[in-house]
Amino acid sequence: MSVILAIESSCDDTSVAICNNGKITANVIANQTIHENYGGVIPELASRVHQQNIVPTIEQALKNAQVTKQDISAVAFTQGPGLLGSLLVGVSFAKSFALALNIPLISVNHMHAHILAHFIDDPKPNFPFLCLTVSGGHTQIVLVKHYFDMEIVGETLDDAAGEAFDKTAKILQLPYPGGPLIDKHAKNGNPLAYKFAEPQIADLNFSFSGFKTSILYFIRKQEKENPNFIAENLDDICASVQHSIVQILLNKVKKAAKQFNINEIAIAGGVSANSGLRDSLQQTANDLGWKVYIPAFQYCTDNAGMIAIAGYQKFLTKDFVGQEVSPKARMEF
Ligand code: KG4
Ligand code: ZN
Repeated sequence: MSVILAIESSCDDTSVAICNNGKITANVIANQTIHENYGGVIPELASRVHQQNIVPTIEQALKNAQVTKQDISAVAFTQGPGLLGSLLVGVSFAKSFALALNIPLISVNHMHAHILAHFIDDPKPNFPFLCLTVSGGHTQIVLVKHYFDMEIVGETLDDAAGEAFDKTAKILQLPYPGGPLIDKHAKNGNPLAYKFAEPQIADLNFSFSGFKTSILYFIRKQEKENPNFIAENLDDICASVQHSIVQILLNKVKKAAKQFNINEIAIAGGVSANSGLRDSLQQTANDLGWKVYIPAFQYCTDNAGMIAIAGYQKFLTKDFVGQEVSPKARMEF
């Protein structure tokens, strides 16, 4: 019997989840809207809001899962990677909680957890599988051999896919985070209206910084001829940008699947909520005979459910850490 309480505070969402014998029975996410006006997450503001949100979020999760503090067997927390000030709030809280209740502490790597979110609901992937992890800070193709035996076989050399979405949205004067808004506008646009060149990057790696600049130049040029270019063509621009990003991602996944001769393919991270990516992946799977795993929306963007399921796997093998543990802005994979 085990009840794991998990805390995620790596960026701008405070989240607490409960995993009861391997089942997620609560996953509460307190979003921070304060950053919308700044075009990106302000670390100092993020950590202050985590401080305000953490206690009510813990209480709500306990209530949703119908458990008390005394029922908890262990506390799992995100140790990194992420913003140091944000991580500090979750790590300090987890340490005090474990100390007060005299229960074990479990450290979780945020990037592992995004992938392990696939073990929350059925169908679960079979090892080995490939996972395209695409978030605001990372773009990786990971060969997943076992729960904590993972190898990055391709990654971005500069911007992450989420940044490509968010920075394009900024060029289009959409608020932060722009990824979901591009997705929304793309639904009404023509994905082939404009063509953006695919970066030519070796192996299974990615690059999005030149891609973003090419969009900026394209928009500037169009605006010289028509100052209302963005407003008049927003849906088509969003659909075309999204289509290009999805093609860049899927072309590398196809290459990886061939190289490793694996046809179990998963996606994870905030950008895996993108409807264009989800649809195109399913289409590619139908064409190539892949088995694909697409997480439920609530487990795509940052959430503690994924930390709880990763914590549960570590609980089973008694993989605990001591009170000397500290957050890591950069954390080895
Ligand atoms: O995993 P996540 O919540 O946080 C990080 O660990 O970074 O990912 C956030 C990223 C942001 O860049 C956001 O714009 C992007 O995921 N995102 C999306 C969508 N939903 C979230 N990008 C495109 N389409 C979406 N529907
Ligand atoms: Zn994340």
